[in-house]
Amino acid sequence: MQGDIDRVLISREQIAQRVRGLADEIAAVYADDAAGLVIVPILAGSLIFCADLIRCLPFKMRIALMTISSYRDKTTVGATPQVVHDLTADIRGRHVLVVDDILDTGNTLGLVMRDLARRQPASLRMCVLLRKKGKAPPSLKADFVGFDIEDVFVVGYGLDYDNHYRNAPDIGVLRPELYA
Ligand code: XMP
Repeated sequence: MQGDIDRVLISREQIAQRVRGLADEIAAVYADDAAGLVIVPILAGSLIFCADLIRCLPFKMRIALMTISSYRDKTTVGATPQVVHDLTADIRGRHVLVVDDILDTGNTLGLVMRDLARRQPASLRMCVLLRKKGKAPPSLKADFVGFDIEDVFVVGYGLDYDNHYRNAPDIGVLRPELYA
């Protein structure tokens, strides 16, 4: 697997340090509002990030899973995102924090945020590990961002190509010939 990676963009040490920093930022914002907080990890990409993040948060929370399909197993943004598995919890009147791996074009999180806003949460915020700067519409703002990255296709730490590489500990750029 490591042989498929052209270069490491963000090392596991950098990720671990930034995840702790993000948790501190989140804890500060929710200091008075943590009661009843619902974390919504967007699967499958945020699986590993969210698992690490929530273990750094010092308060009780509930988890409500949501699965969105964005890609047809390739590196291009082809398909319109769709809710594959919806929340089973009612978020009306709750503070909600959506957690995702990457804000790229914003199609996926745009759909998620519009959909969840209609359910009348007390507040609705978004945390992403990665953001490809300037690609999402300005109206779609992440409240918490781990790293701004260049516009390259990345894998590892939950991010996949063809559903592989999610278990790679670093975030890296695939060798181009593997997806050409
Ligand atoms: P959009 O374009 O809708 O993309 O903001 C969000 C979803 O698309 C996937 N995505 C990526 N996955 N490397 C990946 O492994 C990337 O560089 C990448 N860019 C977008 C991801 O699932 C994300 O939730």
